[in-house]
Amino acid sequence: MQLLDGKATSEQIKAEIADQVALIKASGGKVPHLAAILVGNDGASETYVNSKVLDCAQVGFESTLIRLEASVSEAELLARIDQLNKDPQIDGFIVQVPLPRHIDEIKVTLAIDPAKDVDGFSPTNVGKMTLGLPTFISATPNGVMELLRRYKVDTAGKHCVVVGRSNIVGTPMALLMSRNTNPGNATVTLVHSRTQNIAQICRSADILIVAIGRPHFLTADMVKEGAVVIDVGITRVPDDSRASGFRLAGDVDFEAVKHKCSFITPVPGGVGPMTRASLLQNTLKAQLLRAR
Ligand code: GUN
Repeated sequence: MQLLDGKATSEQIKAEIADQVALIKASGGKVPHLAAILVGNDGASETYVNSKVLDCAQVGFESTLIRLEASVSEAELLARIDQLNKDPQIDGFIVQVPLPRHIDEIKVTLAIDPAKDVDGFSPTNVGKMTLGLPTFISATPNGVMELLRRYKVDTAGKHCVVVGRSNIVGTPMALLMSRNTNPGNATVTLVHSRTQNIAQICRSADILIVAIGRPHFLTADMVKEGAVVIDVGITRVPDDSRASGFRLAGDVDFEAVKHKCSFITPVPGGVGPMTRASLLQNTLKAQLLRAR
């Protein structure tokens, strides 16, 4: 079993980005600038957004965090998005989801200028990804692809089962793995809450990508000997023995599953840091495209 070390790989990617930022600075170019809008104070979202700001500092990007009350109106949020769209200093920005229920996430996604949509959530960018055109690919699927690429995991002709069909992970993941690329070229099955015989389908997978947000959903009996297992889950599970009061649990029963795997990602330290590194890659790309 080989661990797919997202922490170490993301540090390598960040070092590469920092080198590029140094080159941009040396040639008098504009340092990439990421903005993030955080609405309300959901604990997990706060942690994610704060990490994104710290990542920016680590690679030499500028960052702006815009915090809005949970009670902010949809109109006010859309106005802030419009300001960011027009602000020449901002190369890319994200609006952290989930949003409070009174705000329509689709409207928000549609309001973001696709050229600054470093999350890759806008229909324009999702459409470009679907057609295999250069674009911003959303951070988690992109991070998984990067991890497979850097560990030279053989995916061509393999049966890849993606568990979960969310717009930001499962669906793009299935699409990317099926494309004529490396990694990619897999035969993909997308399973979801209405699929019959999930366990049986999972057992036939050479590569399993699990993204349903249910701690320890994937058990050892669902995994074929020698499979590659990618765990996208990061659920906060109450844990009184921790100062924080919780621990992070993946969608995979890691301790039981690892013995059967050729490669497996840990949680934490697997897909999570790769997602963060991908956002930085997209922001750098946005700056380079705008500077042209
Ligand atoms: N919430 C969970 N993951 C993400 C992400 O990648 N981007 C945004 N904007 N919100 C998220």
